[in-house]
Amino acid sequence: MPHINRKPFVGGNWKMNTNATDGLALVEAVADGIGNDSVDVAVYPPFVYLRDIASKAQGSNLVVGAQDCWYEAKGAFTGEVSTEMLTDCRVGSVLTGHSERRHVIGESDELVNLKTKAGIAAGLVTVLCVGETLDQREAGQTDAVNETQIRSGLADVGEGSLGLVVIAYEPVWAIGTGKTATPEDAQNAHATIRALIALMYSQQAANAIRIIYGGSMKPGNANELMAMPDIDGGLIGGAALTPGDFLAIIQAGAAQTA
Ligand code: PGA
Repeated sequence: MPHINRKPFVGGNWKMNTNATDGLALVEAVADGIGNDSVDVAVYPPFVYLRDIASKAQGSNLVVGAQDCWYEAKGAFTGEVSTEMLTDCRVGSVLTGHSERRHVIGESDELVNLKTKAGIAAGLVTVLCVGETLDQREAGQTDAVNETQIRSGLADVGEGSLGLVVIAYEPVWAIGTGKTATPEDAQNAHATIRALIALMYSQQAANAIRIIYGGSMKPGNANELMAMPDIDGGLIGGAALTPGDFLAIIQAGAAQTA
């Protein structure tokens, strides 16, 4: 049976896009359009707009999240933002280990683990992103890369905290490129990740955790991806900047629960 009682999760990662005016208009359109709460929906605006956008989203079913965080509570970390600052601004979720942070900014598995633990400790829904590069895929290393990133990302995270964790499988070669993993390839990666969670924790934990797909998900492919038994939603970049596209993807998630 697909999606054993797992509520779909759809996140919109705005990356370094929008401005104060456009961001507020976008969040308003999304908050007004999501309807019932059959899908958990979050948006991840740039840090500087979080407080205003979270205020705008108050009273709706929309969670506002951050694209990153630092792992210390406060101190001499110029330019960084703590999870306490995020919760202070009514932020409810955080992304960790996004491929652009790993591969463009150069974050290590160890740093991703520290940030993941900080997100969980602050009670944030923590979306741990993993995925292989094109070279790694062509070398047949997809599952091995995912395993390394998940084992290190979740190091010292107990089973009792997994309710706050969502795993996003995002093949690096599919992000922002218009290329999407086939539903079958994505399903294989997701099933392998779920089996790994069963091995690391328990079958119950594996059945419960949401594993979402990211990488050029759009209205035209969201249905067939989310129809796969182990694909529990999506992390959306480009298509999250257009309310109609993002809402259509949320609808595809809702259709899985009908
Ligand atoms: P994309 O980005 O949908 O533009 O490929 C996905 C992501 O980076 O989360």
